[in-house]
Amino acid sequence: MITSVQAGITAVGYIDWAVRDFHGYDTQRGSTYNSYLLQFEKTALVDTVKEPFATDLLMNLVRAGVAPEAVDYVIVNHAEPDHSGALPALLPLLPNATVVCNKKTQEILGAYYNTAKWRFQLVKTGDTLSLGVGRTLQFIEMPMVHWPDSMATYLQEEQILFSNDAFGQHYATSRRFDDENDLPTLLFEAKSYYANIVNPYSKRVAAVLAGLANVPMKVICPSHGVIWRSHIAEILEAYQGWAAQRVQPKVTILFDSMWHRTEKMVSAIQEGVASVPGVVLEVLPVRAATLNQLATAAIDTACFALGSSTLNQQMMPQMAAAICYLQGLNFPGRAAFSFGSHGWGKGGPELLSAKIAEMRWTETQAPIVAKYEPTAEILTQCTQAGQALAEKALELAAK
Ligand code: FEO
Repeated sequence: MITSVQAGITAVGYIDWAVRDFHGYDTQRGSTYNSYLLQFEKTALVDTVKEPFATDLLMNLVRAGVAPEAVDYVIVNHAEPDHSGALPALLPLLPNATVVCNKKTQEILGAYYNTAKWRFQLVKTGDTLSLGVGRTLQFIEMPMVHWPDSMATYLQEEQILFSNDAFGQHYATSRRFDDENDLPTLLFEAKSYYANIVNPYSKRVAAVLAGLANVPMKVICPSHGVIWRSHIAEILEAYQGWAAQRVQPKVTILFDSMWHRTEKMVSAIQEGVASVPGVVLEVLPVRAATLNQLATAAIDTACFALGSSTLNQQMMPQMAAAICYLQGLNFPGRAAFSFGSHGWGKGGPELLSAKIAEMRWTETQAPIVAKYEPTAEILTQCTQAGQALAEKALELAAK
């Protein structure tokens, strides 16, 4: 399917209705790999699609009425295979196309593919490329949003930003514009995308947003999800908050439990959190939650209670996976404590406490540990710790 963005600009990428695993995390609404065809005096294709969908992209070029030999430029904003995978199949069919990218992208493309026969034109921030009278592309490098090579392309006269990964969503829909969709759903998907993809690079995102402050944008065409044309202020404001790691007065309890004893401690912690007005509580038993849900919950969480029973002197394996994922995504400045029950050997809560230190979170108190069955005294400790954590969440959210 193709979609006209406006005169001379057509979305020719691929809507991936089926994908539920995007390089390791779940995408319950699928995704899209957006590619944009710019037909002016010169013809340019901005980004491509995953390798299995190269033929679909080619068919969409035909549907848009462009002959393969008419394509003058393929602009590669980012070398990650969801956007570059189609290039080896596509470029031999576009005999007059020059690949336009930055030096870092060229290096990465050269590592992935045999690029010996590709014609390159290297660009850097501030460089421009004319597509004819009154149509000028300008390049804006955005390293680490999401890879070292990431770049955006700006069509100056039309004030359209082809933003690549930035402002994207994993959201398969035939309604390709923001104003054709439910805005809270879109912003939730954009948040989920940010948490799982861009969050580790939030400082870079903040710098890019500052750089874009004086760039007028009528349309943002990302490489995933819908095109922003009516809610640009909303998505920019949301990015400002995520990039600044702005948190809500929210406590999230992540836990896994073998014989429901750690789960009893969760109930007591909940009581403590709920006793503090104005604090939102989210409870995620990690065996019932996906990695995507964990990351999406984490991005606006001020404080965490991390619970695990002890299994073979370790934390529960799915709790370890959850913490590994969150640690990699880097949610700085949070506060937390750990808890859990054990039998004859310790491990779960103590290892979680060590993870809190590794993530440089504030540890609000020593691990709360129950032997086999949490006593009334331990449960009271849990409630008190939950209350103190909720109060800390209010403090962090007010910063
Ligand atoms: Fe959608 Fe970083 O690639």
